[in-house]
Parts: sequence; C-alpha cells; structure tokens
Amino acid sequence: MDSAVVLSWFTIVLLFHSCDSIDTITSTQFLSDAKNEFLLSSNEDFCLGFFTAANASSKRYLGIWFNKVPTQHIVWVANRNDPIVTKDAVFKINTEGNIAIFSDKSATKPLWSSNISENLSTMNATARLLDSGNLELTIAEGSDGRKRMWQSFDHPTDTILPGMKLGLDKKTGLNRVMTSWKSEDDPAEGEYIMMLETQGLPQFFLRQKNLDAPIWRIGPWNGVTLSGAARLANSLKTSVVDFSQFASLFNYTYIENKDEVYMTLTFPNPGRFRKYVMDFKGLAQQSFYHYAPQEKTYYTNRWIPFWSAPNPSDGCDKYMTCGKNSVCSSSNSSTPNCTCLPGYEKESDHVHCKEKRKNLHVCGKGKGEGFVNLTSIKLPDSRRARYIANFSLKECEVECLKSCKCNSYASANVQVGGKGCYVWEGELNDIRTYQDGQDFYLRIDSVELALSQKSSRSDVKKRIPAVIIVLIVVFGVILLFGCLYAYRIHTVRKGQRQKQRYRDMMLAGSDAETNNDFTTADNFTDNSNIDLTFFDLDTIIRATDNFSPAKRLGQGSFGPVFKGELSNGHEIAVKRLSRTSGQGISEFKNEALLIAKLQHRNLVKLLGCCIDEGEKMLIYEYMPNKSLDYLIFDESKKSMLNWRKRHEIIVGIARGILYLHQDSRLKIIHRDLKAGNILLDIELNPKISDFGTARIFGGDQVEANTCRVVGTFGYMSPEYALDGFFSVKSDVYSFGVLLLEIISGKKNNRYFEDIPNSSLIKHVWELWSNGRALEMVDTSLTEDPPAHEVLRCIQVGLLCVQDNAADRPTMSTIVFMLSNEATLPCPKQPMVAVYRSTDNTDSTSTGTRSSSINGVTITDVGAR
Ligand SMILES: *[C@@H]1O[C@H](CO)[C@@H](O)[C@H](O)[C@H]1NC(C)=O
Ligand SMILES: *[C@@H]1O[C@H](CO)[C@@H](O)[C@H](O)[C@H]1NC(C)=O
Ligand SMILES: *[C@@H]1O[C@H](CO)[C@@H](O)[C@H](O)[C@H]1NC(C)=O
Ligand SMILES: *[C@@H]1O[C@H](CO)[C@@H](O)[C@H](O)[C@H]1NC(C)=O
Ligand SMILES: *[C@@H]1O[C@H](CO)[C@@H](O)[C@H](O)[C@H]1NC(C)=O
Ligand SMILES: *[C@@H]1O[C@H](CO)[C@@H](O)[C@H](O)[C@H]1NC(C)=O
Ligand SMILES: *[C@@H]1O[C@H](CO)[C@@H](O)[C@H](O)[C@H]1NC(C)=O
Ligand SMILES: *[C@@H]1O[C@H](CO)[C@@H](O)[C@H](O)[C@H]1NC(C)=O
Ligand SMILES: *[C@@H]1O[C@H](CO)[C@@H](O)[C@H](O)[C@H]1NC(C)=O
Repeated sequence: MDSAVVLSWFTIVLLFHSCDSIDTITSTQFLSDAKNEFLLSSNEDFCLGFFTAANASSKRYLGIWFNKVPTQHIVWVANRNDPIVTKDAVFKINTEGNIAIFSDKSATKPLWSSNISENLSTMNATARLLDSGNLELTIAEGSDGRKRMWQSFDHPTDTILPGMKLGLDKKTGLNRVMTSWKSEDDPAEGEYIMMLETQGLPQFFLRQKNLDAPIWRIGPWNGVTLSGAARLANSLKTSVVDFSQFASLFNYTYIENKDEVYMTLTFPNPGRFRKYVMDFKGLAQQSFYHYAPQEKTYYTNRWIPFWSAPNPSDGCDKYMTCGKNSVCSSSNSSTPNCTCLPGYEKESDHVHCKEKRKNLHVCGKGKGEGFVNLTSIKLPDSRRARYIANFSLKECEVECLKSCKCNSYASANVQVGGKGCYVWEGELNDIRTYQDGQDFYLRIDSVELALSQKSSRSDVKKRIPAVIIVLIVVFGVILLFGCLYAYRIHTVRKGQRQKQRYRDMMLAGSDAETNNDFTTADNFTDNSNIDLTFFDLDTIIRATDNFSPAKRLGQGSFGPVFKGELSNGHEIAVKRLSRTSGQGISEFKNEALLIAKLQHRNLVKLLGCCIDEGEKMLIYEYMPNKSLDYLIFDESKKSMLNWRKRHEIIVGIARGILYLHQDSRLKIIHRDLKAGNILLDIELNPKISDFGTARIFGGDQVEANTCRVVGTFGYMSPEYALDGFFSVKSDVYSFGVLLLEIISGKKNNRYFEDIPNSSLIKHVWELWSNGRALEMVDTSLTEDPPAHEVLRCIQVGLLCVQDNAADRPTMSTIVFMLSNEATLPCPKQPMVAVYRSTDNTDSTSTGTRSSSINGVTITDVGAR
C-alpha cells in the first residue's frame, strides 16, 4: 500500500515536472531520493531516479523507466542486488569520478558504483541520460571532445532497448546478457538468462541458471537471419493483431566481426517504444507501445506484445522438444510431431533416435553414400559445428565426406551467390521445420539414399521428365493430327496419373498436408505441388455407391453432399454441384485450383475436384463430427461443448473468416456463414466449409451488389437481405449471430417461436441492456464459465449484429477483441430483424420466394 502511494506520487511528480528538469549531472551535483529528484532525457522519453519495486516498500532502487508510459516499466536498475534501505540516498559522481549511490549525503563508501578503476576525478566526469535510455559516463578528452567511460547499455538487466547490444565484445570480454528479475517486485538477479554463447558457432540461448539444458535457442546466423528467428516476422501472422503496419518492429541486426558478435534491435519510429524483456518466469517477450495520447485505437497507448520466446502457440519452439537426432514439425501449430531423421530410428526409450545401422558413414569407402536434402530446416544446435569460409556447397559436401565424423552440412550464407558453410558432427539436436528454414544436407548411407530417392517425390519428378518428354512428344504428335478423341484419351490418362499420385500421397502419410496458416510443416517436400487432384467420375461413383441416398450427408448451398470412401480407405466428402451454374469447365477448374490453395486450419480442405459429363464436384476432407448445428442445437449433445470449447470454436471461426477476408490470396466473402457450415474435426476444432462455393458461383456478380440473394435467414445482415448489398461486414453480421447462437445454444430464427417479431438478437439485446446478459448463456453448461469472458463475447456478438454495416468491427478487430482485455465499444441497439417466421415459408422482410425447408440455405430468392 505504502509503495502504491509512493509510486503514484512519483508519477504525479513526473507529470508535472517543470522546465528545470535536467538530463546531466556533473561532479558538483547530485540527485536526492528524499527530494524526489530525477534526470529526464532531453526527448522526455526516459527518466532516471529512485523507485520502489511494488510491495517491497522498504527497498529503494535507482533505475531508468519510460517516462511517457503510465504503467511504469523499469528498463534498467543500477543496484539490483544491493537495495537501499534508507530514505536519504543520493546519486552522484564520487571522488574518483565514478557514478555511485550512497545511502546518505555524508556516506563515504558507495552502495553501488560504476566501478571504473582509473581515477577520473580531474577529468570533469559527467553522467547523462541519453534519448535512447542509456546512462552514460563521459570524461573530457582533447580540446572539447568527450570520451565514454561507462554506459548502462553495457550492463542490461532484464530489458533490451533499441540500440542496446545483446552479445559479446571480444576485445574486452564483456558479454551483455539479459537476466530476469527474481520476482515481479524484486529486481535482484533472477533465474533466467538470455545470452549469446560462442562455443562452436555463435547462438543465443535462453537458460534457467541451475539447469544444463537450455530452454530455447536461435542461431547460427545464415546470412539473412539467425536460424529459427525468422519467425520474428512470422509472428505477424500468428498474432491476432495485424502488425503489417508495424513491419519495422520486426527488424533486428546481427553483427559478427573480429571485434564483436551481437544482435541489436533497431529503433522504431519516434513516438514508439520497443522493449525486449526477460520476465521472471522465463518468457522473453518483445512489445511495443505507440505513444499517441490523442488517439484511441487498439494500437495506441498500451503495450502490445508481438513476439515471445519460447512461443507458447508453437509446439516446436522449445529447445529439443523432440529427442536427439529428430525433427520437430508442427502442422497444428501447438502440437509437435517428432520424427527421426532419415537413416535414424527411435531408441527403446521412444524419445531419442539413433543410427539405424552402426557405422552409417563408412568414410568414403562405402559405395553409394550420399546426402539427403532436407528443406525448411532450423539448423541444429551448433555448439559442435564448424564454419568453413569460402567453400561452395559442393566443396563443402566433398569436405564433409572426407571426415568420418561429419554427418551434415548447410550453407552459412543463403543469400544468392553466398559462400561459406557449416558442418556438424555428433548428435543433431533441436532441429525443426519452419517456414523460413533453409536446406540442410544430411549424410546417409547407400541403403537410406536408395530409400529416400524412391520416396522423395521431388526426385521422382526430376527423373520423370526424361521418360515423359518422349510420351509428351508422342501425345504432341497425336494432338497435331488434331483429333478430339485423342485429346480425350490424354486428359483421362492425366487424371489417372494424378489419381495415382494422390493415392501415393495418402499412403505416404499425406505429408503434403499444410492445413496451417503460419508454419509450413511440410516435411522436406516442396509445397508447390499441392495442386488439385482430378478424380474421375467412376472413382467418385464407386466411393459414394452411386450417390446413394444412404451416403447423403446433407444439403449445402449449391448442391447435396455425400460421404465417400476411396479404395484406399480414405474418407471424403463429395459436393455435387447443381448443373445450373453457367460456369464453363476451365473457369471452374481455375477457381477450384485457387481454392485448393487456401489453406487454413479453420477451413475445410479441398482435396480435389471431378469434372465429367456436365457434372462438377468438389472433393473435401471428411469431418467425422458433422457440423456445429448437430451439436449445439441438440439437447442431448450440446453438453459435449463446454465453455472452453465453445470459446475455442468462436475464436477458430473468427480466425477462419479473417483468413478468407484478409489473409488469403483471394479476398473471399463467404455469404452463408451458419452453424450448418461450420464442420468439426475429430477434436471438435471448427472448420468453415462452403467458402469455395461462394466464389465458384460468384463470377457473375458485381462486387458489392447482387441480384441473387444467397444466404440463410437468421444469419443475413439487413443490408444484404433487404438490398442485396454485401461486403465483408455481412459476414461479420452472420458471425455475430453464430456467436450468440453458440453461447446460448439456441437458433436465432427459432428463438421464440410463439412470439412474432422476436429473435435471439432482440432477446440478447434486451438482457444485455438491462445488465442481465449472463442469463442468455446456455443452461446446459455445467460449470460456470468466467463471467468477464462470456460478457466480452456477448458484447462482441452485439457489435457484430449492429444494423449499420459501418458500425460493425472488422474480423481482425474481432479476433483481437476476443483474445485481449481491451475495452470494447458500446454496441448500438439492433432494430432491423431479418428472420424467418416459422409458420410461413416466405421471408417476412423480403417477401420473395424461398425454399421450403426451414433453416435451409436459400439459394435463389429471385431477381430483384
Ligand atoms: C501487492 O500487494 C497487493 C495486496 O497485498 C496484491 O494484491 C498485489 O498483487 C501485490 N502486487 C505485486 C506486484 O506483488
Ligand atoms: C582521485 O584523485 C583525487 C584528486 O586527485 C583524490 O582527491 C582522490 O583521493 C583520488 N582517489 C583515489 C581513490 O585515489
Ligand atoms: C566493483 O568492484 C569490486 C571489486 O572489484 C566488486 O567487489 C564489486 O562487486 C563491484 N561492484 C559492482 C557494482 O560491479
Ligand atoms: C564539464 O563538462 C561539461 C559538459 O559535460 C561542461 O558543461 C562543463 O563546463 C565542464 N566543466 C569544466 C570545469 O570543464
Ligand atoms: C530494417 O533495418 C534496415 C537497416 O537498419 C533497414 O534498411 C530496413 O529498411 C528496415 N526494415 C524495415 C521493414 O523497417
Ligand atoms: C491440435 O492442437 C490441439 C491443441 O491446441 C491438440 O489438442 C490436438 O490434438 C491437435 N490436433 C492434431 C491433429 O494434432
Ligand atoms: C535442396 O532442395 C531445395 C528445395 O527443393 C532446392 O532449392 C535446392 O536446390 C536443393 N539443393 C540441392 C543441392 O539440390
Ligand atoms: C576467401 O577468398 C578470398 C578471395 O578468393 C580470399 O581473399 C580470402 O582470404 C579467403 N578467405 C578465407 C578465410 O579463406
Ligand atoms: C508427422 O510427420 C511425419 C513425417 O513428416 C508424417 O508422416 C506424419 O503423418 C506426421 N504425423 C502427424 C500426427 O501429423
């Protein structure tokens, strides 16, 4: 309590500082704690003075903090291990010219000092707090020059600021490391440390002091980035905030020369602060603060974390998530998948991997020995690796083969034409795949080499052309003779080839699966070959028992959906598009190709398509848990979805829509979001379906207005249902409805069947505006969900269903609002309700024709 008073009083002093604030002290001046004196950098960004760490009221420290940020963050502490226990401490330049803290004005022995051994007292030593937040001690040198003798940037505590170096000065031996505080309110040296280590190749490690094994690692430098660290830029996408406008924040510099090895953060723009903190629990995090008191957006006036290590949402980020000689991949971003390196097999402990055959490398004598090219790799721990300058990759391979111990190599400079390489020996640890990874060449024996060439599709592709060219020429000749029949044979064969490849792919464990937006978990394969598989009609007919009604899963927009089973046992969902679309075959194909490239874990994956005899079909992965409406509106099943799961589903759906709207290469408006179009995988993760159909059929429509209203009553925004006007904001509306349905377990358009003109939305609004919003929560939720989280969701839902499209937030804001504690705007009352009364097949609002099954998608409401 005492401390709180001191702190706030302190803040007040800061806020009302007058123009006499100074940034420098000389040997004749001092700062007194009793008088609350401080130094202020000339740009007023940083402040140096005495403070009390929260709740440890009797202990005073000298530190530097952000002056403009209201919640104080101490970026540097002088006497972290030697707290001051008096109330009269002073900070001054002592008789030897060192900056020092004394417990009172008359004390002779300093409590803390900058500890320079030279006697600087005659050299006019001065201390200055610079605009960067650096405290610098300088002496006069030459006629009017000054020489720096000491700076706080050389002695980081738990925070790195732009301009600070994290790493080694080889000349003085000074290694600048980050050390966490002991606890939230004790700045003494804590357990966690982030530092550069130069054993083998330079790498950065996060460690817990008393443990041998590191917690996290990046490096070595590969000419472009520290291996493993390029995901600095990737956290752009993993984060809910759209950081693209802050791209410069992800900038860092790495310097390695004969004098120094370090990394440093670059300065963001003026008005922005950036900090990189090692917290007392061992999480290193970078955040930024955009200081703009007059602006009130999500990006201003608060700390926004944008990067952390280890990244909690990345299953492979921790050091050696998998055992020795393994590769970690995380297609489902948080779940690591550990596999042995080629040529290695699991040890009996099922964790580590060992060489399959003893003496794998027979030192050049083994015939047919070689290397396998693994792609997208974070280089292994390089404490036992070696750098060879000037060598090309080819030379490096030869070099590696000369040594019995060398087991792998990789480029040390991945820039075009870059020279130099790294070679490893011994255990290969902490390898993972990630999007910005590099090629890594692993030495394997002839047996393994033969295996890898057989299974590696990229190699197959390289060998195929020679054979294929002949075939193509033959086909070409046939085509030249211009016979339609011949052309047809060609396409059929092509289809079969594709089909075969698809089967191979399935059998090979479908490693082309990249249903993830952030990391390409694609193990060692080139993902440019995720193109569309063309199934032939026979296959589909066999798979679905000739579209037997028993296999019918339901009715999506634009056509019925059937369950199918391929001859290899794989289950698929087949959507048979109605024949009435005016779209041509090639347009359809192009569209389907584009859609197959949309890959996100909250979107159903398109596996292929089938075009034959006027039939057009889309083949999707099969979702065993059906769609959300089967669970959420079913009294007996809805209890499967507890609050946590519902919240996850809501956020998942939001992410999926955000991807469609913003992040995918096509900007897609779904137009028919509803519980029936949210499929659930085996773990009940939501997957949006039908998103491709919206586009395939969207070709004839103007961007913002349509004569064909496609959608489902209860989910359609007023402007869309009434005026046919659609935009991303109409999806936002549907999402809002869906969200409220998930929380309440009730259908919007069936809410009070007996009360005309009522709807879930109206009901929720009434409860919410009367402060009783929690009453709308599904009563089948057994445990009490956290009220603040539920209320936040409800408020987001109400923001989404506002009448005026411009008032509704965008998906990126929604995703942000759902996952952060930021204050939300107040929703306006929804007045227009577009719903469908139950006893009447016509839409009450549009008065147009609609299909007769309640809740079914209205595909053609007729031209307006
Ligand atoms: C300070 O003490 C109060 C009350 O004892 C407690 O609620 C708060 O969490 C403490 N703050 C810190 C940073 O420990
Ligand atoms: C440093 O020099 C000053 C002035 O010459 C002197 O008064 C002081 O005692 C010296 N300090 C030490 C530790 O030698
Ligand atoms: C200053 O140096 C002395 C002796 O070399 C050492 O005991 C002391 O811990 C140092 N103080 C700081 C703050 O580094
Ligand atoms: C000491 O240096 C400061 C600038 O750092 C200067 O303003 C001051 O005049 C100098 N004092 C003497 C005695 O040289
Ligand atoms: C990153 O920093 C470098 C050098 O400081 C600069 O050239 C580059 O433009 C910066 N990139 C961004 C995105 O700000
Ligand atoms: C995906 O991640 C979740 C945890 O977020 C996990 O429970 C689930 O098993 C993972 N699914 C797959 C297919 O690995
Ligand atoms: C390794 O594979 C990558 C990606 O397929 C390719 O770009 C690279 O050229 C290959 N390296 C060698 C030496 O073949
Ligand atoms: C690399 O090659 C250049 C020019 O060929 C040469 O000047 C340099 O000394 C070489 N460096 C090393 C480390 O061998
Ligand atoms: C893990 O990766 C291997 C090889 O890349 C793949 O065959 C396997 O299916 C993956 N397992 C899971 C559960 O994703």
